[in-house]
Amino acid sequence: MNKYFKKLIPNKVLSNFGYTGIRPKSFVAQNLDIREDIATKYAYDGDLLDIFASNQGPLVHKWHHYIPLYDRYFGQYRNQPIKFLEIGVAEGGSLKMWRRYFGNDAVIFGIDIDPACLQFNNPDGRVRIGSQVDKEFLLDVIDEMGGVDIVLDDGSHHMQDIRTSFDYLYPMLNLGGTYIVEDLHTSYWRRYGGGYGMKKNFFNFVRDSIDDMHRWYHENAIKNSAIAENCSGIHIHDSMVVFEKKIVYQPVSSKVG
Ligand SMILES: C[S@@+](CC[C@H](N)C(=O)[O-])C[C@H]1O[C@@H](n2cnc3c(N)ncnc32)[C@H](O)[C@@H]1O
Repeated sequence: MNKYFKKLIPNKVLSNFGYTGIRPKSFVAQNLDIREDIATKYAYDGDLLDIFASNQGPLVHKWHHYIPLYDRYFGQYRNQPIKFLEIGVAEGGSLKMWRRYFGNDAVIFGIDIDPACLQFNNPDGRVRIGSQVDKEFLLDVIDEMGGVDIVLDDGSHHMQDIRTSFDYLYPMLNLGGTYIVEDLHTSYWRRYGGGYGMKKNFFNFVRDSIDDMHRWYHENAIKNSAIAENCSGIHIHDSMVVFEKKIVYQPVSSKVG
């Protein structure tokens, strides 16, 4: 874009059209020691750091600040027969990483729209080809998995796709489960169906979900009954939202003493 026009139009507007120059490329770590960067910035040196940083196998692509967050929310499921689904397989490295992290008892599946990902189908991670917006396909996969405890959406990152998958998969998630959507910086990018202040921006759905979680305290209509009934917590981090699924009871308080 011409420099002159760039000066005239506020960044807020430009960003809706993808013209601010902020691109994922600008965030790719250059000449950083991965281990040291994560350990120092996020005070984290758990197993997942080692598993991620020492990966010699197929490529895995994760933002550094996600590593401690994964451990915070997934740590409870390690070495248990949990059922984990990652949307987005790409080069297969993340499924390998999850196998090393969760252990041999976990059922680990990845789905991807790209048939080339089938080459990564192996006992570490089962790969199934189909779209994250294809409900029949998702149903078949969850059926084959025997249910699902964790969904990690690292797929198309398109607003509509994220919502479609969430609307379908969250109700299927087992109680005690966790649903994570990552790379939500795309919420601010028009080419992903988002944009600053735009209706489809995923964070508007998060805001609606917060209202549903607090339905006890207002008289407005519930927007998403799955959230209202079974969402016990929503955690927002940079580009990542975590939904915890548990039975939600009407809150009570007591005076003691
Ligand atoms: C960011 S990559 C996944 C990276 C991988 N999880 C990792 O951590 O290394 C996104 C993947 O989502 C896949 N994808 C894009 N649209 C999709 C859709 N509608 N359904 C399923 N997968 C999709 C792409 O083919 C791509 O392989």
